[in-house]
Amino acid sequence: MTRGCEAGIEQQLQRRRRATAELCGLRDQVLLVGAGLPLPVPGRADRTYPFRAHSEYLYLTDRERPGGVLAFDPAEGWVDFVVPVTREEQLWEGASAGALGGAGIDQLDRWLEARRSRPVACLGAPVDGIRSEPALERSVRAALNQVRRRKDESELSRMRAAELATSAGFAHVARLLKPDATERELQIELEAEFLRQGADSLAYETILGSGPNTAVLHARPSERCVADGELVLIDAGAEVRGYASDVTRTYPASGRFTAEQAELYRIVLEANRVATERCVAGTEWREVHVAASRSIAAGLVAFGLLRGDPDALVESGAVYLFFPHGIGHMVGLGVRDAGEVLAGREPEPDAFPRLRVDLPLLPGYTMTVEPGVYLVPALLGDRDLRARHRDAVDWDRAERMLGLGGIRIEDNVLVTEQGFEVLTKNVPTFD
Ligand code: GLY
Ligand code: MN
Ligand code: MN
Repeated sequence: MTRGCEAGIEQQLQRRRRATAELCGLRDQVLLVGAGLPLPVPGRADRTYPFRAHSEYLYLTDRERPGGVLAFDPAEGWVDFVVPVTREEQLWEGASAGALGGAGIDQLDRWLEARRSRPVACLGAPVDGIRSEPALERSVRAALNQVRRRKDESELSRMRAAELATSAGFAHVARLLKPDATERELQIELEAEFLRQGADSLAYETILGSGPNTAVLHARPSERCVADGELVLIDAGAEVRGYASDVTRTYPASGRFTAEQAELYRIVLEANRVATERCVAGTEWREVHVAASRSIAAGLVAFGLLRGDPDALVESGAVYLFFPHGIGHMVGLGVRDAGEVLAGREPEPDAFPRLRVDLPLLPGYTMTVEPGVYLVPALLGDRDLRARHRDAVDWDRAERMLGLGGIRIEDNVLVTEQGFEVLTKNVPTFD
C-alpha cells in the first residue's frame, strides 16, 4: 500500500509541505526526509520487523513504503524520490506494479550532485551517505513539529476511525470480564475486536494487568487468571492508517469495586476531569500536569494515604510516590506524536517524573490525559524515598494496600477553538 486515496489527502499533503517550507525558512540549504528501511530481526535470516515509515516522512508523503526520500530545495520545491515496485515484491507480497508517482530513487544522486556545496538538513530516517548539519536539522525539525502538532481533517478522521475500533474493543472485553478469565484471553478478545472494527494494527503492544500487575505501568498480559475482587487495567489502542488511539480503563473483575478501590477510582476519575477541562488553547501543558497532581494529592489526603497540604505534597514530590508519571503526551501520528519540550525549557535534572511535553496548547492539538494512582512495591519499599517522605505518607496503610495494584484512566483530548473534545468519550468507563 502506498499513497492515500481518501478525499482531501492530496490537498492536505500540499498544505503540510507549504506550511513546513514557510516555517523552516530555508534559503540556500536543502532538506531531505528519509522513509527508512525494514529492520532485520537479528539472527532470523530474511525476517524483518513490520515496516513503518518514519513519522516525519509519512506525514509529508502519506507513503508507507521503504527506501523513499522526499527532497526540498526552496528554489525549486519538493521532489518525491520513490523505490519502484520490484518483481520480488509482486511475487511475495502481491505488490501492485502500478505507477507510484514521484521520481525514481535512482535520480536522487543527480539531484544531490547538483546541490553538492549546500548545507543539508536530514529529517526522518538517515539517508545513505548524507551528513546532516546538526543545528539546521534541529531548527527544521522544530518547524515541522510545529506544523505536525495541529491535526488536520484527514488526520482527525483517521483518529476518529481508530477511536471507533478502540471503543468497540473495550466494550467487547468489558462484557467478557469475569473472575477466572486470563489476562491473555482478554487481550486476544480486545485485539480481535479492534481488527474486526477497522483497525489496521495495534497502536502499541497491549498493556493489560490484573490484581498486583495493575501497578506495573506497562504490564505485559500473561496467563494469569483474574481473581474475584481484583482490578483489571487495560491500556490499548487501535491504529488506522498510521493514526493511534491510546486509551486506559480500569475495571473491577467481578463487576463491583471494593470500598477502597471505589474511593481510589473516584480520585483518578476526578483528576482526569480536572486535567481534561484544562485542555484548552493557551494552557501550558505543565499546568495540566500540576493540576492533576494537586487533585490526586488532595484526594489521597482525604483518603488517608498522604498527610499535609496538597500543594506542598506536589512541591516535595510525595504525590509522585503514587502517581509516578506525567499526565500525558501528544498522540496522533503514532502513540507518541510531535510533542516536545520546547527549546530553552530543559527539565530540571532531578524533576520526578520527567515531562515528555512542555509547551502551550493550541487548537488542533491531540493529547492523552492519563492520571493514575498505583501502589508500586519498588517505590514504596525504597529506603531513600521512605526517608525523604517519612511524614507525608501513612506507610503502614500503604504497605497493607500493596496488593491492590493501580488505577489509570486515559483519554485522548482534542483542543478546539471553543474548548476541547474528548475523542475517546465512547470508550466505556466503569460508573
Ligand atoms: N500506552 C502507553 C502509554 O500511554 O504510555
Ligand atoms: Mn496508554
Ligand atoms: Mn498514553
